[in-house]
Amino acid sequence: MDEQEVCTPSDQAEFWKKKRADKRKRKKERNEVVKSQRQEEWAGMTEEERQARREEALRLRALRKDEEEAEEAKCRAALDSVKTPTVVFDLSFAWCMTVADTKSTVAQIKYAYSSLKHSQFPFKPVITSVKGKEEDSTEDTEEQEKVLEVLRDFEGFKRYPPVVTEEHWSKHFDKSKVVFLTADSDDTLTEIEPEMVYVIGAFVDHNRHKNLSFQAASRHGVRTAKLPIQEHITIGDRCKVLTINHMVDVLAKYQKEKDWRSALETVLPSRRTKEKRPRGK
Ligand SMILES: C[S@@+](CC[C@H](N)C(=O)[O-])C[C@H]1O[C@@H](n2cnc3c(N)ncnc32)[C@H](O)[C@@H]1O
Repeated sequence: MDEQEVCTPSDQAEFWKKKRADKRKRKKERNEVVKSQRQEEWAGMTEEERQARREEALRLRALRKDEEEAEEAKCRAALDSVKTPTVVFDLSFAWCMTVADTKSTVAQIKYAYSSLKHSQFPFKPVITSVKGKEEDSTEDTEEQEKVLEVLRDFEGFKRYPPVVTEEHWSKHFDKSKVVFLTADSDDTLTEIEPEMVYVIGAFVDHNRHKNLSFQAASRHGVRTAKLPIQEHITIGDRCKVLTINHMVDVLAKYQKEKDWRSALETVLPSRRTKEKRPRGK
């Protein structure tokens, strides 16, 4: 798929899937070349040279261990701090999804979690309504629920387990602290505040259900906000609705650099965006 054609969430997901597969293939080929070069080099070395190489490998391993420990300390500090904002993945919209789209939602949440972990948790991840609907809803979400189940004990969550709950986020958080992120809001997100809770509608609907997350936010009486896309970049209207993982990538990048334009440009497929305003916050 050409980057120019990337637009709907499913196009974007397909585009990034292919990009990742190509990258994995190139990496594997490179690794094979490096491995055979190393074997050749090792065969031509003296015993002293081999010993020096072993010592260097031990030194590097110790260095890596120190780096990993420092990274772990940063992750734990962020997750333990009351100041760290929360990002909620609200799964209560599963009734509007096919099983395939529910699988895609699960994959996007895993990517989003991984992105948060790699940036040392600028947000605490919380996954709510894992049964795929609000507690008092009568919708049949049995099929979707089976897919969502995997999030309860996903191996990749083991080290820093997020809260994963059947309850709706409104049972967990003070509503005055909640901002529901939705492209349909009249309000625009200008900054990320500490201790606040940012809710993302965790669903894939190919833009079929406009206003769905906005209506849910209104029903629960919480503030809403859209990303400041039009203030910082130029992009087609349909592309203003982001996938779950792109949302998290933009928020995480913004938290790091406090620059919306840079965050949006980095995350959204490049040829779809172009500069609009002078670089600003
Ligand atoms: C694929 S979108 C769902 C689109 C859906 N039609 C709706 O009603 O919002 C998944 C979630 O990403 C978030 N989102 C996507 N684009 C956004 C934007 N431009 N600003 C704020 N939130 C956005 C919202 O939380 C939304 O529920």
